[in-house]
Amino acid sequence: MIEQIKETAAYIASKVQVLPKTAIILGTGLGELVNHITDKTEIPYTEIPHFPVSTVEGHQGKLIFGKLGKKDVMAMQGRFHYYEGYDMKQVTFPVRVMKELGIEHLFVSNAAGGMNPDFAIGDIMIIRDHINLFPEHPLHGRNHNELGVRFPDMSEAYSHRLIAKALEIAEKNHIKVQQGVYVGTQGPTFETPAEYRYFRIIGGDAVGMSTVPEVIVARHAGIEVFAVSVITDLGVEGIVEKCSHEEVQKAAAAAQPKMTFIMKELVEQF
Ligand code: HPA
Repeated sequence: MIEQIKETAAYIASKVQVLPKTAIILGTGLGELVNHITDKTEIPYTEIPHFPVSTVEGHQGKLIFGKLGKKDVMAMQGRFHYYEGYDMKQVTFPVRVMKELGIEHLFVSNAAGGMNPDFAIGDIMIIRDHINLFPEHPLHGRNHNELGVRFPDMSEAYSHRLIAKALEIAEKNHIKVQQGVYVGTQGPTFETPAEYRYFRIIGGDAVGMSTVPEVIVARHAGIEVFAVSVITDLGVEGIVEKCSHEEVQKAAAAAQPKMTFIMKELVEQF
């Protein structure tokens, strides 16, 4: 694995002028952020050795290097989901490569179903913590000490200082944001009403099918993390409605300007 990480990082480094310290995983609701990146160099995943290729509708696969304001950034347009059939090592491989390239801060977005009764469709939820319910752990197996410790601390998976900064930006610009616990599940089914209730009871505010694996590997690698969900549907007791990929995309698109604004300001200012 280490060999592959190094080969992939070397290939990417040979294609770009500047190696940034900040990376962004452009999940649902944040695709538009690429339009704010200037001086772009794009590398399709298909050209990158050892990179998986993303298959989901609404996700194009490429790495984008450039500037967000004055900040050098690397963005992943398209991520790898466990439900697509990748194993956890593949899902999190890009984060290992990021670390090898010198990334120190990672910003992530996703779409999620809201279980908290105070949430509404289109809300933005800053992730304060997560519950990992994926059936496979990304750090399962032999630990490579050069990548991180065997038993990583998870007491502050989501950086308190970045959360504070994001809240400050939101307040200053009169953007309402929620905060909460993200439950990561394998999908691809959306939840049954009983599952939403269960996730609420165990302490979840929102549920989705991504992010947790990447965050675990980033923390293992010592990368600081900030993550945000756009609430695209509700799994609140009594009001669980039918949910489809199209509805998720539509709700995410509507919330996109808010989400983009907060992420852009945060990345530029932190
Ligand atoms: N559940 C799981 N994943 C999701 C949801 C949901 O309700 N909405 C968007 N992604």
